[in-house]
Amino acid sequence: MAILKLENGTLYQDLPEITRELASLNIQLNQWNVGSDRQLYPLLAQESLNEDEKEQVLQALDGYFEQLQQTAGYQSRDLIVLHPGIPNLDELLAKFAQIHTHADDEVRYIIDGEAVFGFVRPDGSQVELTVQPQEYINVPANTEHWFHLTPAKRVKAVRYFISTEGWVPQYTAREIRIPQAVG
Ligand SMILES: [Fe+2]
Repeated sequence: MAILKLENGTLYQDLPEITRELASLNIQLNQWNVGSDRQLYPLLAQESLNEDEKEQVLQALDGYFEQLQQTAGYQSRDLIVLHPGIPNLDELLAKFAQIHTHADDEVRYIIDGEAVFGFVRPDGSQVELTVQPQEYINVPANTEHWFHLTPAKRVKAVRYFISTEGWVPQYTAREIRIPQAVG
């Protein structure tokens, strides 16, 4: 289940409360089950995946991609696999750790590990949402946000794209006020 943190440290773990706190951002947060494909579970448990294994995972979950293709014109999907064994992990993540926007929605389906999305709400307040396995998130285009991992530094997420150009980060130069965990 997702966890939402406010600037004053208040934590929300109930979906109705989280939905209320995110309402002004029009963020979609859904529970998406990974299903019962037995071959999927050992792959999700692995720290890293080769290209064939990634494709196997994507195909097992393509029912969701087909829905997005049909209802919202999505064109492609890939699987991002991050873990502490990646030598340039911090460098890869640094690009998204500062507040930025994209011209397209940022659409992710977390299937292993966890990821933190920070948001600037329309009133200027900031919140951080920890997204956990079997949760789908759609961050609307032009939402000021940032992204980092939890201290475990491990996530597998399907990314869905309308166009790959649309989600190049545009930095807004605003400072993150939520205290960041060290490490
Ligand atoms: Fe982003």
